[in-house]
Amino acid sequence: MKKELIYEGKAKKIFSTEDKDVYLQEFKDDATAFNGVKKDKIPHKGEFNNYISSEIFIHLKKNGIPNHFIGKISDTEMLVRKVNIIKIEVVCRNIAAGSLVKKFGFSEGAVLDKPIVEFYLKSDELGDPLFTEDHIYSLGLADSHELSTIKKMTLMINSILIKYFAAKGIRLVDFKLEFGKDKSGNIILADEISPDTCRLWDSITNKKLDKDRFRFDLGEVEEAYREIKNRLTAQ
Ligand code: TMP
Ligand code: ASP
Repeated sequence: MKKELIYEGKAKKIFSTEDKDVYLQEFKDDATAFNGVKKDKIPHKGEFNNYISSEIFIHLKKNGIPNHFIGKISDTEMLVRKVNIIKIEVVCRNIAAGSLVKKFGFSEGAVLDKPIVEFYLKSDELGDPLFTEDHIYSLGLADSHELSTIKKMTLMINSILIKYFAAKGIRLVDFKLEFGKDKSGNIILADEISPDTCRLWDSITNKKLDKDRFRFDLGEVEEAYREIKNRLTAQ
């Protein structure tokens, strides 16, 4: 199935396949934080994130959100539709945490009146800076119609996932999305949705069940990812 390595990121590898419209996405155990400054492996993370992302993509598709997922083909691999990734990281927040606390002085855990959507330039070299819609237009990354589609899709995904996680005893604090354009030029959801890219807190105890356990050396990192996988895949 795998042909050549097209791209290797910090947590995934993308391979071409015999079908020119299909890529294979392989999830790695490698974990990085703070733009690669902190590095380690989290045992079984690749497998957990592949299961978790697959479940979420399936749920989003059922709820009308077009995405690149085709099917899970092994513990750590999924087939995805080929897209050109739009170089914008879209973050959506429901509860204050992370950089909202560090950069803007919100109190951690404060519930936001309405979701905050932010755009970051996807560039490791530049450290993924926060940027505005005008920067996006000037850089030619998306036009206003495309950006409004991306924002609308993000808020729809947020509503769907808040309910989805709540039913599993999880609060969706915030998350990061990436979108791509398929061969017809349609904007679809791509990349992954996992404890690497979301903040997920237990609904009762507020225990962090995501990559913050790795970022801030909170311990029980593998256990947190396993817990999310188990809650999402339990019947
Ligand atoms: P932040 O509070 O550090 O800005 O992160 C917001 C959300 O985005 C959080 O759920 C983690 C996720 N995220 C990524 O997926 N990749 C990144 O490079 C960063 C900085 C955050
Ligand atoms: N993904 C980013 C990094 O590697 C940042 C993060 O998730 O904290 O370094």
